[in-house]
Amino acid sequence: MRAPRGNRFRDRWAGTLRADRTGERVRVAGWVHRRRDHGGLIFVDLRDRTGLLQLVFRPEEAPEAHAAAAALRPEDVVTAAGELVRRDEGVVNPGLPTGEVELNVGEVEQLADADTPPFPIDDDSPVGEETRLRYRYLDLRRERVARALELRHRVVQAMHRFLDERGFLELETPMLTRSTPEGARDFLVPSRMQPGDWYALPQSPQLFKQLFMVAGFERYYQIVRCFRDEALRADRQPEFTQLDMELSFVDEEDVIEVCDELLREVLAAGGVELELPLDRLTYDEAMLRYGTDRPDRRPGMEIADLGEAFAGSDFRVFADALGGGGVVRGLRVPAGAVELPRRRLDELTEQARGLGAKGLVWAVVEESGAWRSPVAKFLSEGEMADAVKALDGAPGDTLLIVADEEAVAARVLGELRLAIAPPPQGHDLLWVVDFPMFEWSEDERRWDPLHHPFTAPVGDLDATPGAWRSRAYDIVMDGLEIGGGSIRINRPDIQRKVFDALGLAPEEAQARFGFLLEALRYGAPPHGGIAFGLDRMCALLAGRNSIREVIAFPKTASGADPLTGAPAPVDARQLRELGVRPAPPPTAPRE
Ligand code: AMO
Ligand code: AMP
Repeated sequence: MRAPRGNRFRDRWAGTLRADRTGERVRVAGWVHRRRDHGGLIFVDLRDRTGLLQLVFRPEEAPEAHAAAAALRPEDVVTAAGELVRRDEGVVNPGLPTGEVELNVGEVEQLADADTPPFPIDDDSPVGEETRLRYRYLDLRRERVARALELRHRVVQAMHRFLDERGFLELETPMLTRSTPEGARDFLVPSRMQPGDWYALPQSPQLFKQLFMVAGFERYYQIVRCFRDEALRADRQPEFTQLDMELSFVDEEDVIEVCDELLREVLAAGGVELELPLDRLTYDEAMLRYGTDRPDRRPGMEIADLGEAFAGSDFRVFADALGGGGVVRGLRVPAGAVELPRRRLDELTEQARGLGAKGLVWAVVEESGAWRSPVAKFLSEGEMADAVKALDGAPGDTLLIVADEEAVAARVLGELRLAIAPPPQGHDLLWVVDFPMFEWSEDERRWDPLHHPFTAPVGDLDATPGAWRSRAYDIVMDGLEIGGGSIRINRPDIQRKVFDALGLAPEEAQARFGFLLEALRYGAPPHGGIAFGLDRMCALLAGRNSIREVIAFPKTASGADPLTGAPAPVDARQLRELGVRPAPPPTAPRE
């Protein structure tokens, strides 16, 4: 960081001082990180954004400063000036970037007093999340938390640099708008000027970025807040940030290529090197081999289909599944990869049941190729040999097998695979492509889009919607979806067909998306784009297991902000002005 403009508070950043400046008179400012009284000498570690610097107060050289230092307490704010000196040989601190020097303080001024903080700032002792968020401004003083936000800044700057060089325009879109269907619940804002009407906060800028393409901007981006009222998890916040992009006159290849290069630059800013092009896997392959559309390939241990191996099996469990249109699939745990004693196998069987499987077959492949398994007696030697072959297995491996409907088998084995996997090293990025356009929602008894309804379909649009594929692509990092996008529909007739398939009546489609259908009639270029989850990318790069760690002021799992107390009640007068009547308070459960 460039040296500060010298003023009455500081002329150097504390954390940047090194031995080459010894002998200079410098002034620094910041917080008292730690104070140690050594009889006569007082040492204070002063902290500013750049790091720590040791200040020394000597009673004989600067009695006034020494007296002032005696009264300093952690987190007091001070400015101090003196001579930067080299530390004596024996007390150099190699663990601190400024560890070779210290400031021999001649004068010090306390600029603000600090109450005792509710948790120590100067170490990484664990603190409950509620307390951390309640005092987030103190939590943000802690090195580990502050570094994560610095990393986020570097990532964002890399995005701006790259996209500007590639001719993308950063354009803003409204926050008070109409609902966009990204599949979550909307946050709504009542309109005062049109009582009874509501804005929705955007779940994404999807429709506006498409309108930018109709408008002819060709290449758009925005680092933008999105709002989704959905169940929160470690990787989901009600407001989160996307890097949102859209391009005109492009196919999948064009979007993926520019994204590959973007990711290389952005991840480099986070210290991760990528080799291009990134791998691609089709949706079907991902579901088969990893049991999920966001695979983490790092643990290996792929799943394989055992339908052929057990095609003629007399074992009732396999025969019933295959006979009923289901599948038999297996996961191979290589010898030595993880310990799977009997007790653990029983736990995994319970876990499989919890995930909806009817059971779990386990088998250890013995030197002879025979299986040690509770079901070995029901299987022929040939079946066992074929299954081992299909799984690329070898003696010593453990096999986990599920027979069920395809979706259940995939999900269960996918989850078990991750549950077994040892903590993975490094990073894994890949594209998942060639998605189905819709999935059947049993609850709603209708087709739901796997992405969103503006995604271009491919295939025979007169066939059942379940057979349509889409021109969508997702980017997956370490088993987390960090981005998703598609080539869009640019013709009103196709857009209508998709709305039809979704069961959206023409009047309803017109009411909700009439403006888009209309825009598509005025010369919409072929276009497509993507949105990356910035919070998720940063959390993975920072090695944190929740996106809350890379968001300055995140919400708790219940959507609350313990710092401000949001969400909070409002005045009855405010509600009256908005024409909103509060819902009656929920009745307390009876004792
Ligand atoms: P999608 O809904 O897949 O696509 O969102 C894009 C990416 O945003 C991240 N993300 C979230 N991150 C944190 N908290 C959340 N609640 C949350 N929800 C999503 C994910 C996801 O991959 N308009 C389309 C993009 C497009 O088609 O161009 C969209 O929003 O990393
Ligand atoms: P059962 O005949 O139900 O006692 O099952 C015999 C063995 O097969 C047990 O080890 C079960 O855990 C296992 N099993 C039962 N159903 C399935 C299934 N659908 N897929 C895999 N294993 C199963």
